This record gives sequence, C-alpha cells and structure tokens, in this order.
Amino acid sequence: MSANFSHRYEGDGRVTIQPLAIVGLEHTPGAGPVRFAGDATVRSHTVIYGDVELGDAFQAGHSALIREHTTVGNHVMVGSHVVIDGNVHIGDFVKIQTGCYIPTHTTLGSRVFLGPHAVLTNDRFPLRQRDRYAPEGPTIEDGVTLGAGCIVLPGVTVGANSFVAAGAVVTRDVPANSLVVGTPGKVSPLPEHLRDPNRALNWPSDEPESGD
Ligand SMILES: CC(C)(COP(=O)(O)OP(=O)(O)OC[C@H]1O[C@@H](n2cnc3c(N)ncnc32)[C@H](O)[C@@H]1OP(=O)(O)O)[C@@H](O)C(=O)NCCC(=O)NCCS
Repeated sequence: MSANFSHRYEGDGRVTIQPLAIVGLEHTPGAGPVRFAGDATVRSHTVIYGDVELGDAFQAGHSALIREHTTVGNHVMVGSHVVIDGNVHIGDFVKIQTGCYIPTHTTLGSRVFLGPHAVLTNDRFPLRQRDRYAPEGPTIEDGVTLGAGCIVLPGVTVGANSFVAAGAVVTRDVPANSLVVGTPGKVSPLPEHLRDPNRALNWPSDEPESGD
C-alpha cells in the first residue's frame, strides 16, 4: 500500500514518477523541492531528497537514492541502487551504472561513465582522526571512464579522458589521458585503442567531444 505522500517538485517538463518513488523528501524542516529543468523519469522505489536540481532528460532507475544539495546536468542516467550521498555535482551526459556509491563533496564532470558498483570515498581515516574530519570526495574530470567495481580514494582527481580498469584502486591523482590498472592502481598513458571520447548512442550527435 502506498503512503500518503505528496511529491514536492518544480519544473515545466514531462516528469514521470513511478509508484513508490519519493521526489522531494523533506530532509530537514523547510527543505526546498526538487527542481527539474526538463523531462525526467524516476522509477519505482527511488528516493530524491529536496534541494536537488536535475537537468533535462534525467533518468533514474529503481531504488536509487539522491540526497540534498546535489546538482545534476542534462542527459544524466542514475542507475538502479545507486547512492548519491548529497552535496555532489554532476555535469552533462553522465551514466552511473547499477550500485555505484558517490559520497558527499564529490564532483563528476561531463561525459563521465561509472561502471557497476564503482565506489568513490570521501574520508581517508573513517572514525579516526575526528579532530581533523573534513570529508573530501574525488574529482572525476570530463570524459573519464571508471570500470566496474573500482575504488577511488578520498580527494583524488582522475584527470580528463582517463580510463580506470575494472577493479582498480585509485590511490593518487591521475594525470589526464591515463590508464589505471590494478591495486594499487598503476598509471600509464592511455593506449591508442582507448582514446575515443566517451559517447553514448542515445546522446545528441551535436554534443561536443571530449578534449574540445
Ligand atoms: C582495462 C581494460 C580496458 C583492458 O582491456 P584491453 O585493452 O582489451 O586489455 P587486455 O584484455 O588485452 O589485457 C591486457 C593486460 O591487462 C590485464 N588486465 C585487463 N584488465 C584488467 C583489469 N581490469 N585489472 C587488472 N588487469 C587487467 C590482462 O590480464 C592483460 O594482462 P597480461 O598482458 O599480463 O596478459 C579492460 O580490461 C577493463 O577493465 N575494462 C572495463 C570494463 C568495465 O568495467 N565495464 C563496465 C561496463 S559493464
């Protein structure tokens, strides 16, 4: 049985919200609504807190969570069971696949791809050194691909167009156009066959390519 809950959102686009999703959860008393810049689909059991801004052509899968003060660009897909923990900024044309974790204070650029269960982190010494606690998520620059199940440590920047292999652990900043493989991640220049800019078949063809 569905609860007696009114979605709280603004926007003039076609917004489809499936049953049992919650849009605009009042995370604190007086919290604002969700703002949609255009069309959107929010699938069942997804929860989006108030004070979230979502761009045009937004898609969320099932049972995703997007917390407050998160901004999302146009043509972004947030897969099922993804958790975005708030205070996260996401560019345009981004695909976040099933089960990824994105902690607070994280920035994702545009044309970024996160494979299933990629885990980003924001606290180098969890529950230790509390007198110095200052969460700092990674910065994932434009055109980056993160492979399935990789882990990116707190505060790390993954430079533009880089490719992180499945299962790699990224422990240090990565220069642009790099490949990162293994644990700890070994960094090398991006090989020729991985230099195509990220593009999805359903993105508009006039989208500028990486490196412009
Ligand atoms: C990194 C990657 C692009 C390499 O692919 P590739 O260029 O075809 O490379 P190869 O498969 O020829 O492997 C080259 C070497 O790297 C190793 N390797 C490949 N992927 C690896 C990985 N993820 N971690 C550790 N080693 C890896 C191979 O075992 C091989 O080692 P060898 O030379 O000792 O035999 C690919 O393996 C990868 O991880 N892709 C991401 C897949 C993904 O997460 N997709 C998400 C959507 S489902």
